[in-house]
Amino acid sequence: TGLITIDPGFKNTGSTTSSITFLDGELGVLRYRGYNIEELAEKSTFLEVAYLLIYGDLPTQHQFEKFTREITTHTLVHEDIKKILDGFPSNSHPMGVLSSLICSLTAFYPESLDPTRNEDAVNLSIIRLLAKMPTFAAWAFKNEVGHPVNYPDNSLDYCSNFLKMMFALPAEKYDVDPIVSKALDQLLILHADHEQNCSTSTVRIVGSSQASIYASISAGINALWGPLHGGANQAVIEMLEAIKADGGDTKKFLDKAKDKNDPFRLMGFGHRVYKNFDPRAKIIKKAADDVLAKLGVKDPVLEIAKELEYAALNDQYFVERNLYPNVDFYSGIIYRALGIPTDMFTVLFAMGRLPGWIAQWKEMRQNGEPIGRPRQIYTGAVDRNYVSMNKRG
Ligand code: CMC
Repeated sequence: TGLITIDPGFKNTGSTTSSITFLDGELGVLRYRGYNIEELAEKSTFLEVAYLLIYGDLPTQHQFEKFTREITTHTLVHEDIKKILDGFPSNSHPMGVLSSLICSLTAFYPESLDPTRNEDAVNLSIIRLLAKMPTFAAWAFKNEVGHPVNYPDNSLDYCSNFLKMMFALPAEKYDVDPIVSKALDQLLILHADHEQNCSTSTVRIVGSSQASIYASISAGINALWGPLHGGANQAVIEMLEAIKADGGDTKKFLDKAKDKNDPFRLMGFGHRVYKNFDPRAKIIKKAADDVLAKLGVKDPVLEIAKELEYAALNDQYFVERNLYPNVDFYSGIIYRALGIPTDMFTVLFAMGRLPGWIAQWKEMRQNGEPIGRPRQIYTGAVDRNYVSMNKRG
């Protein structure tokens, strides 16, 4: 079996080669298929980036129209899914609902369970995922607040349709604010892929057993949920609110984060790979300023975030450990300004990460990668004789 090296958290273990996303943690570079994230965030749209990640190149006009049309055709979900949704207590966390609804697609499209499906059939699953994700995300929210669900409006673009399903109420007129829709689109681009992170590795490892793409993506959503991963965006706002409620003493919270006997960590700070800065955080910080100004929103929590960032960046503990704000530090502030409730933040992260998960699943299958199966070094009892229960002391 050879020598087994233990690397908890896979800090130095590569699991695959990949041609999707390039990341240089020292220089703070992030590229999708060779394109800098800064340029994509400024010039592209989320669906164009989704196409780029999944199919490898930016689409031509014709390819893009076809892709968008196909997605629009599949935004509706089976009516029986409403029964599943109704089975969840209202106030269920929308991440649990989202992963369940995505996994339920295996029941509505059982042909997805066949690992020998051809490229066209797999492609249809990909389109369905991209098309139905915003519907599920908005419905998970509606369930939480106990409102009736809205059906997709296919006359709208991807983000505007999502916002309308999320916020429109039957008795009121609802017009999507283009500033809000554009800001959301940019945030989704920034989250669209990040190579072999926890949720993506989960998607690849589940998919490596030849499980359905829906089951694999559902597993990725669950991995994303945790506060050390995508759940950090919710945790950041909760932390900033706690600081505010406590009187705004940022130093007190910095000291707590530094105290090794206290489990508290500064949420939105630190990254496994970025040891200099997170290029996404830079873009989001600027976007947060812009969006708040455009929408005329004043959020005292933004001031606390800036103060905390400044204090941490000038604190020896954080400097020595190369801890910088990550993508989640400022994204929650924009989501709040857009009117998105706190426990939907990670759902939006999942919506953004979906094309990355799909691209990585597809690459893994195309490469014919073997089933993921890490090894271990056993440290338990060596060899024991069974003692019947009445003789155990
Ligand atoms: N606050 C206080 N100390 C920290 C923090 C933090 N946020 N992050 C790392 N450290 C310390 C850690 O205690 C350790 O100190 P020491 O060397 O004295 O034991 C050192 O820095 C190295 O940390 P680590 O835990 O070994 O690093 P990691 O690569 O295993 O963890 C991380 C990376 C992102 C899980 C971690 O930095 C963290 O928990 N951050 C807060 C949660 C967060 O913001 N997560 C979002 C990550 S970015 C988006 C995403 O992945 O979804």
